[in-house]
Amino acid sequence: MSEAGERKSVLKVLGGEAVWPPPIWLMRQAGRHLPEYRETRAKAGSFLDLCYDPALAAEVTLQPIRRFGYDAAILFSDILVVPQALGQSLWFVEGEGPRLDPVADRAALDALRPDLSRLDPIYETIRRVRPELPPQTTFLGFCGAPWTVATYMVAGRGTRDQGPARSAAAGDPAFFQAVIDRIVEASIHYLVAQFRAGVDAVQIFDSWAGALQGEDFRRWCVEPVERIVAGIRREIPDAPVIAFPRGVAAPELALAAALPVQAFGIGQGADLAAARDVLGERVALQGNLDPDALIAGGETLDRAIDAVLAAARGRPHIFNLGHGILPETPIPHVERMLARVRAG
Ligand code: CP3
Repeated sequence: MSEAGERKSVLKVLGGEAVWPPPIWLMRQAGRHLPEYRETRAKAGSFLDLCYDPALAAEVTLQPIRRFGYDAAILFSDILVVPQALGQSLWFVEGEGPRLDPVADRAALDALRPDLSRLDPIYETIRRVRPELPPQTTFLGFCGAPWTVATYMVAGRGTRDQGPARSAAAGDPAFFQAVIDRIVEASIHYLVAQFRAGVDAVQIFDSWAGALQGEDFRRWCVEPVERIVAGIRREIPDAPVIAFPRGVAAPELALAAALPVQAFGIGQGADLAAARDVLGERVALQGNLDPDALIAGGETLDRAIDAVLAAARGRPHIFNLGHGILPETPIPHVERMLARVRAG
């Protein structure tokens, strides 16, 4: 029996063990690069219909596990279901991205009518996926970090530089803190419920953490995530958490190091060895193959994989991309990557 068959390799790594070859999963592994996803998605109608349909969401969560045997499955949902449960209207414009009615001031925030039971179908997805997973496969839940979620809530859409949220944080910090506080409370409730429904660990996506520096980063990125982790651990002691403050420079990574999490996701372009120097040897790192290298394939891909493996060897590491897999990624390139990582 292989080592991986004994216990979940991702959980071992989150416990501080250096597992070799490193376990692997990919952000956005359930998504448009898979023909079977596109087929299920067409059946569901809209992307949000898919997120809230437990049978179909469970199916797309399992698709990449069946095809590639990744070491972790990630719940199929979206970070923006939390603002929706907080009462904000949400829709996706095909080919463009998410839209929300902006919460630009205190009056708009006070007008929201939260209803966290809107998240119930997502727990049902987890209960359906759980028994279908191979025993060695770790099941990951997730939410967005309050800063990243707030950038969408305040602007009403994705923005290039997160300007509207940065302006709100600087111009009306009491209002912005109130937005963050609502997201923190809802996220604790949401992640605790995900654990109770059957996930093994959770990842907190702070995709736009790179937009803040220094004290702003500490206040809006580190402190809210710290509160979420503390809130989860009050209910589920030792709950494994992966923080993903994407795109931060060394001084901010040093501030993030205060988070009591088991792993840090590292975005593409960041140097894994430098991140190790900042974060120390015991915490697990996750990442950070460039999604463009996975599109390029061939020797470009092999060299990029080898660079990640070289930095990961002998340390607790989870192989992943530095951001989500892109829809145009050829499936043979994913297969080539898996073979190379699994060969160590
Ligand atoms: O990783 C996974 O496989 C789990 C599912 C997952 C999705 N979104 C599915 C999705 C996760 C973890 C997310 C997180 C998410 N969503 C983030 C943080 C991580 C990141 O990518 O930076 C953010 C910022 C969002 C918000 C969001 N959702 C945007 C901006 C978009 C539109 C862009 C796009 O790719 O279309 C989405 C849509 C989305 N979320 C899709 C998927 C599979 C594509 C929807 C489709 O099928 O058309």
